[in-house]
Amino acid sequence: MNVTLRTPRFVLRPAQTGDAEAIARYLNDFAVAGNLARVPFPYHLSDAKAWLRTRVPNLPVEETNFSIDLPGEGLAGHVGFHRGPLGPIIGYWLGQPFWNRGIMTEAVSACLDWFFAASTEPTLYSGVFHFNAASLAIQLKLGFTETGRSTLLCLARGAEVEHIDTKLTRSVWKARDK
Ligand SMILES: CC(C)(COP(=O)(O)OP(=O)(O)OC[C@H]1O[C@@H](n2cnc3c(N)ncnc32)[C@H](O)[C@@H]1OP(=O)(O)O)[C@@H](O)C(=O)NCCC(=O)NCCS
Repeated sequence: MNVTLRTPRFVLRPAQTGDAEAIARYLNDFAVAGNLARVPFPYHLSDAKAWLRTRVPNLPVEETNFSIDLPGEGLAGHVGFHRGPLGPIIGYWLGQPFWNRGIMTEAVSACLDWFFAASTEPTLYSGVFHFNAASLAIQLKLGFTETGRSTLLCLARGAEVEHIDTKLTRSVWKARDK
């Protein structure tokens, strides 16, 4: 899907070829890549270009990805959906210069509104590595609940890492007091 969402402070838009440098700059940071399952470290410009080539037009809802584009600052991070073993998964990252401004709470919230309107999926899955208190805080604040623990390969760490598994149901999201 090629969708653009507007939040009070920024735009969530499809990734584009010109994003490669910014993506590589922010993901080539162990503080970011080390919290993500599928991002290698070091992360090269060629990795960003290869990933951008996968962002073909009209991907299904469950494979849609949004670039967080801040006015005057440009690309700051991503929120994306992909298919997992139990159902769709949401993942996200923000470049370190943009942390602690409430940006990801705002971005994920807008993406959840879009996701539950655009799909019929009853449940969205996510989770965090066990040390990622900020990301867990975002998810709990938005209505995700912990469903258990697992281990997940973290490419940047080259190791299996304890993972707190979470999920958000459509009914909880719709009933949320916004
Ligand atoms: C995790 C990440 C997405 C947070 O983005 P952000 O825009 O700074 O997050 P927000 O400001 O919207 O919200 C963070 C929340 O965590 C809280 N928080 C921050 N550090 C915390 C900590 N050490 N312990 C507990 N809560 C913490 C903040 O207080 C805030 O909650 P509040 O709004 O209720 O006060 C960002 O740091 C990031 O991308 N990190 C690297 C990649 C990553 O971890 N991705 C997620 C993988 S699951």
